[in-house]
Amino acid sequence: MKKFTCVQDIGPLDIALAKAAEVKANPFSDQILGKNKTLLMIFFNSSLRTRLSTQKAALNLGMNVIVLDINQGAWKLETERGVIMDGDKSEHILEAIPVMASYCDIIGVRSFARLEDKAFDYNETILNQFIEYSGKPVFSMEAATRHPLQSFADLITIEEYKKVERPKVVLTWAPHPKALPQAVPNSFAEWMRETDYEFVITHPEGYELSEDFTKGVRIEYDIEAAYKDADFIYAKNWSKFNDPDYGKVVNIDRSWMVDEKKMQLTRNAKFMHCLPVRRNMIVSDDVIESKDSIVIPEAANRVVSAQVVIREMLKSI
Ligand code: CP
Repeated sequence: MKKFTCVQDIGPLDIALAKAAEVKANPFSDQILGKNKTLLMIFFNSSLRTRLSTQKAALNLGMNVIVLDINQGAWKLETERGVIMDGDKSEHILEAIPVMASYCDIIGVRSFARLEDKAFDYNETILNQFIEYSGKPVFSMEAATRHPLQSFADLITIEEYKKVERPKVVLTWAPHPKALPQAVPNSFAEWMRETDYEFVITHPEGYELSEDFTKGVRIEYDIEAAYKDADFIYAKNWSKFNDPDYGKVVNIDRSWMVDEKKMQLTRNAKFMHCLPVRRNMIVSDDVIESKDSIVIPEAANRVVSAQVVIREMLKSI
């Protein structure tokens, strides 16, 4: 595998899930693959889970790991070609990428949507520069439009907890005080569409995601109808995708918070969220602390999804 940025890169999901089960059962069995190989993890944005789980996955595979928080200690990077660099940015990303690549064998990149320019974000300008100019396998640790390591972990978790063959999985928008990217919901929708689950998205009118990710998916504006008989409730906030308000928050309607009353409509649904989560904005204390909350095993499965991806990349170099 030379790149991992979307669901298509992982291949058939049944095979990916079998590899996940393999990795989970024997996390240290492939240490020879990573011996004397180096993973470079580059963060343009903050992280807790991705930083630790991906590092742990690489260590399980016997790799060395270098972590760079590009905005803390490195030179400020210019990312656009043609700019006269007379401001505060000392280095161009087009030199920085091949230099960084010369120190490693595999690169993970986190580069969130800036929510200022939809074309810049949805062209995945930063991630694609790494793919084009590094000459090394590159995987996304959440980019502008997708978070595939999260979605793969979500899928693994649903498979582990589902009680029926074809569960009803509901992605619900939930309120948040700040503008957040659409990467997690886009990606979750992209992965769910590849399963045979009953998949429903519910959100207030105006929060439609890009049809590139939701085409063919049932969008339910009636939140109670969406929750009815659900087996999994996956909560996430996202800012507006559609113009003219791209990247803006136009609604923080608190009634969309996941609470016990709504969960009563479900079929004892499991509660999921990628974390970090703002309690009593996105989800009530009661729900996230309930026996049906699976946010911790979901986060733990981030090691598994990362390890499957890095292992495939190690096999390709
Ligand atoms: N879910 C997730 O990616 O968490 P972090 O932002 O903490 O890495």
